[in-house]
Amino acid sequence: MRTQIVAHRGDRKNAPENTLIAYNQALDFEELDVLEIDVHLTKDNQLVVIHDEKIDRTTNKHGYVYEYTLAQLQTIDAGSWFSPQYADQRIPSLEEVLTLLRKRNFDKTLLIEVKTDHIEYPKIEEYLLKRMQEEKPRYQVIYQSFNLNTLLKLHRLEPTLTLNALVFYPTFKVLKMYRSGVITAINPDNRWFVNRLFWLKKSNVAPWTVNTEMAMRAVFKAQLNRIITDDIALAAKLRKEI
Ligand code: G3P
Ligand code: CA
Repeated sequence: MRTQIVAHRGDRKNAPENTLIAYNQALDFEELDVLEIDVHLTKDNQLVVIHDEKIDRTTNKHGYVYEYTLAQLQTIDAGSWFSPQYADQRIPSLEEVLTLLRKRNFDKTLLIEVKTDHIEYPKIEEYLLKRMQEEKPRYQVIYQSFNLNTLLKLHRLEPTLTLNALVFYPTFKVLKMYRSGVITAINPDNRWFVNRLFWLKKSNVAPWTVNTEMAMRAVFKAQLNRIITDDIALAAKLRKEI
């Protein structure tokens, strides 16, 4: 089985994570199989793509995403923290990401993480699903979340969705969701999986976030389903070698 390479928050190694330039650069890698993005909800219920629930780490302003409207958020510099050359980068709306994928004729897999693990966003699942149903993408879409209630809600709203549970380590509840078919894969913390590769061989797991050569080699050797990484080039190089 060929392990799929997942670009974590875009080309995070070389560009400010979860920005249009980071996605564009990730899509430039021929070896890329999956693009991962994180979604939150603004004050005016717009889906935006950013990792943290606060804007402090990846912009030059402060506060929670839900305290800003989309228009307000999009005036903020989301690139200088990474390097001054990216000062023009903004927090993208989901809309902008979908437009980019259409422009780039994306035909691989989009992995959307619903960021409801630290914060509650009423109806984020409904908004997201509605928008993706309207989009009717030509690429595959997988939804993932640390919040099992979000996954259960998505499953209730549309039982045919492909859902993955993000976990630090698999719990009984998560295994039950896997066995009953609610989720198709369990995506564990890379610190947990390393000692368990023997019985995980060829499994439906996508460990995150695998950035060292040693850990990457182990994932490819075990032929796990996917590898979530910040270093697309290294993963592509090692996958060829193994
Ligand atoms: O795709 C898995 C990974 O994104 C989960 O962790 O914190 O980077 O969203 P985090
Ligand atoms: Ca994520």
